[in-house]
Amino acid sequence: DEQKAQYKARIKSLLQERDAVLVAHYYTDPEIQALAEETGGCVSDSLEMARFGRDHPAKTLIVAGVKFMGETAKILSPEKTVLMPTLDATCSLDVGCPIEDFSKFCDAHPDHTVVVYANTSAAVKARADWVVTSSIALEIVEHLDAEDKKIIWGPDRHLGSYIAKQTGAEMLLWQGECIVHDEFKAKALRELKLQHPDAAVLVHPESPASVVDMADAVGSTSQLIKAAQTMDNDTFIVATDKGIFYKMQQAAPGKNLIEAPTGGNGATCRSCAHCPWMAMNGLQAIESALADGDSDKHEIFVDDSLREQALIPLDRMLSFAA
Ligand code: 13P
Ligand code: SF4
Repeated sequence: DEQKAQYKARIKSLLQERDAVLVAHYYTDPEIQALAEETGGCVSDSLEMARFGRDHPAKTLIVAGVKFMGETAKILSPEKTVLMPTLDATCSLDVGCPIEDFSKFCDAHPDHTVVVYANTSAAVKARADWVVTSSIALEIVEHLDAEDKKIIWGPDRHLGSYIAKQTGAEMLLWQGECIVHDEFKAKALRELKLQHPDAAVLVHPESPASVVDMADAVGSTSQLIKAAQTMDNDTFIVATDKGIFYKMQQAAPGKNLIEAPTGGNGATCRSCAHCPWMAMNGLQAIESALADGDSDKHEIFVDDSLREQALIPLDRMLSFAA
């Protein structure tokens, strides 16, 4: 604990020295979220992280999250230095959607509008007409469907099929998944609900359809926190990364928050409701990103032509959301 306190103190002074601000996602560990709050940074969902980074006057952004979040920040603010605690923090959706294959998929359907989730590489974004995050995806697809657009959706198949079902839009889905949300199990959730008959079920739409179907509220991380805050229930069963409990409990003090089950009957799961890449954002890694002169280990660079191309669909989302 003493060592943690030392890291925190050192991070605070480095943030000032470097004119830097810490931007963290709700899935990072509570101590990282608390540090972002304490130091005037932000803790939020993917959409808000992008907006905050773009609008903040600091010269340097340190992004505690996964690589696509750092890349998005750099695309929106090329003049800023964008650092990450580790460049190895990736995302199964990003990894599962290589640009060469995705580009072929798009080329095979030239009459389709290409909509990609923010959880993708800069190259995949550059191939897209729209970028969306989970808090705005439904509205954007509704808007495109109203214009009778046929849609290519990538990479999350669960989020894509949820949106297709909600909007009735014609969507061709890339078959990617989030290893964290894909583990939530409907059968075990049904059993848990029997033990807590008054609980409301909150589900992130990266979860399988069988789990989403049982939800009382479906939404992005920020929307789920809002649901816990505003719904009357005293108990919530929450199907998303457990990092969210820190802010959700703050937003809904006194309410009982329960993790939704991953894997049935003690069966192993790949991630057990905590993203292994989000978990890489520790205090030590943040300290070394800020202290290190070695930009190869921490700094995000995006090729100029790719950046300009990826900025178009990202800006389209941000203007739509404004
Ligand atoms: P949101 O915070 O936009 O809901 O995104 C969830 C996510 O999986 C980020 O990795
Ligand atoms: Fe990717 Fe899932 Fe981790 Fe989010 S929680 S970064 S979607 S693997």
